[in-house]
Amino acid sequence: MADTPQQAAPGSPTFHRLWPTLFMAVTLPGHEQANAMLSGLVLEKNAEQEQMTTNYLDQNLLEDENPAVLWLRQCFDKAVHDYAQELGISYPLDWTLQAWPNVNFKGDYHNLHNHPHAWLSGTYYLNVPDQGEANTFRSDLNPGAISFFDPRPQANMGAVRGDGQFDPEFRRLPDAGELFLWPAFLHHLVHPNLVDVPRLSISFNVVLRNKANYL
Ligand SMILES: [Fe+2]
Repeated sequence: MADTPQQAAPGSPTFHRLWPTLFMAVTLPGHEQANAMLSGLVLEKNAEQEQMTTNYLDQNLLEDENPAVLWLRQCFDKAVHDYAQELGISYPLDWTLQAWPNVNFKGDYHNLHNHPHAWLSGTYYLNVPDQGEANTFRSDLNPGAISFFDPRPQANMGAVRGDGQFDPEFRRLPDAGELFLWPAFLHHLVHPNLVDVPRLSISFNVVLRNKANYL
């Protein structure tokens, strides 16, 4: 990464925040209506497949012709566009989207992982059941939440409160209708669902076409 010479006056420092990890959250307008249709579709697909999340590369939910899926595809594309703009990418990008549904019944969780061979990854939430009724006997449980971890190993080791590197975990309990988008390399995990109502989401990868042109 080359430094751009700054015209700062002597004695006045310049600052660079290096290697950012950009996380985006957006609530999709019109999600109530779409989520009713999408939830039905996802539960239908779950009944057909035993390892829907594990075999996520075997399918692309976005190829479905359901009108709610068409809406979702447009929302995903807009989110990727907004994300690229925030990064400061000023040239056109060409990407494909691949998506798969996740159904977490009581006790289900997703272990720590990232999404190789993609540029960005995201999840859209159809139903995140209220965990208020869950039997939690420990205060450190976070049922239904998703946690992301600092991609710089052990960057928190020498950190002090307020320096931005103190907490290696970023955790969110998503709302239905929210879409999260992050760099595909970022490790994350989904905490167990501890209630009888299934937690439903649709995850996706953003894969760039013609990557060589971007280098
Ligand atoms: Fe994931």
